[in-house]
Amino acid sequence: MNEPDLGNKQSEGPGYRVPLYYRKLKHNIGGSGSVGAGDLFYQVFEGLNNRIATSEGRDFINFCSYNYLDLCGDPDVAMAAEAAIRKYGTSVSASRIVSGERPLHRELEAAIAGFVGTEDSIVFVGGFSTNEDTIAHLMGEGDSIFLDEYIHKSAQLGASMSGAKTYSFPHNDLEALEQMLSAHRAEGKNALIVVEGVYSMDGDIPDLPKLIELKRRYQTLLMVDEAHSIGVLGQTGRGLSEHFGTDPGHVDIWMGTLSKSFASCGGYIAGNAELIEYLRYTAPGFVYSVGLAPPMAAAALKAIQLIEAQPDRVRDLRSRVSTFHELALSAGLNIGDANQASAVIPVIIGRADSTIALSRVLKDNGILALPIGYPAVSKTKARIRFFISSGHTDEDIRRTVEIIAESSISG
Ligand SMILES: Cc1ncc(COP(=O)(O)O)c(C=O)c1O
Repeated sequence: MNEPDLGNKQSEGPGYRVPLYYRKLKHNIGGSGSVGAGDLFYQVFEGLNNRIATSEGRDFINFCSYNYLDLCGDPDVAMAAEAAIRKYGTSVSASRIVSGERPLHRELEAAIAGFVGTEDSIVFVGGFSTNEDTIAHLMGEGDSIFLDEYIHKSAQLGASMSGAKTYSFPHNDLEALEQMLSAHRAEGKNALIVVEGVYSMDGDIPDLPKLIELKRRYQTLLMVDEAHSIGVLGQTGRGLSEHFGTDPGHVDIWMGTLSKSFASCGGYIAGNAELIEYLRYTAPGFVYSVGLAPPMAAAALKAIQLIEAQPDRVRDLRSRVSTFHELALSAGLNIGDANQASAVIPVIIGRADSTIALSRVLKDNGILALPIGYPAVSKTKARIRFFISSGHTDEDIRRTVEIIAESSISG
């Protein structure tokens, strides 16, 4: 394919001109040829994003949804959201600090704190902004932040907005982190280590007991982003601390999203009462922003109540996850370092064009699983990322692994 003529400067004239790198990106992903994947992204789906997704009237077995516990689409969750709209409307129409506070917010925050095992919690309107705002607000000039190199963009941006000195340690390499702490901890006033409970592209997990030991020895704060681990890890879905059997109180800042296992939209910070009260009165993205919308608060609250009342959901998810792991490994697929309990499972192919081709083979066979390439992962590690849900059947998974193995594009 010919490269487009990108020129070396933006054209003149009124209005915003997109940067050159974007024109190149658009050229690379555009179209539906062997390299382009434009037809795979921004597809429109006609119904729920759960086990089955429907596009242009065709049903697909769907591995693209982080509706891990099948609660988005659950009738009780939908009824709770509808009742909240009838009672409170679609928006609280104000920041909570002035007239936006509703009983639902308090109930949801108490439920999250109870579920995670902390004194209190606070909910923000977006998961992304929860990370950005909290890190940027709690840390500042003269402080240090130590980030896993694979940490989500929202935490990276929060760190750079904070003005603190930022260090990135090689992914999940806690010996390298220790060397960095030993070399640089003394330079900063306050220090924060940020990791994910389950990494969103690789499905691997950090060694929490070792992190707790390091944070104590080097007197830092520890923050864990549980976007993909809450509702998934641990016997009852309580996340990374339950997985390792550690006291949740040993982590200073638990962050999570409402958009995955909790079937809603928004994010939370859970921790001690002092931290949460401080955020409630001072975090800019909380104080200067509208309160969480009533249907979103009600949906997340009902989802947590159902996770507690229906332990089969987490159990079924664990069983489907282990089926995928077993079958993928015995078919010789490269699933990298994905943890056996993680519902994010990459099938690493390597080249972007082969990965896109495999995604198309799957689609032709009625299976939806999208390619992930650079810059989300390194150029040589393009992959298909599978999100497993408690709603999948063993047969869905068996068929999918068989198709990949038979495609001869399995990495
Ligand atoms: C690890 C991680 N943190 C934060 C977020 C942001 O969450 P949300 O999509 O709910 O804004 C995501 C999004 O997928 C994520 O993967």
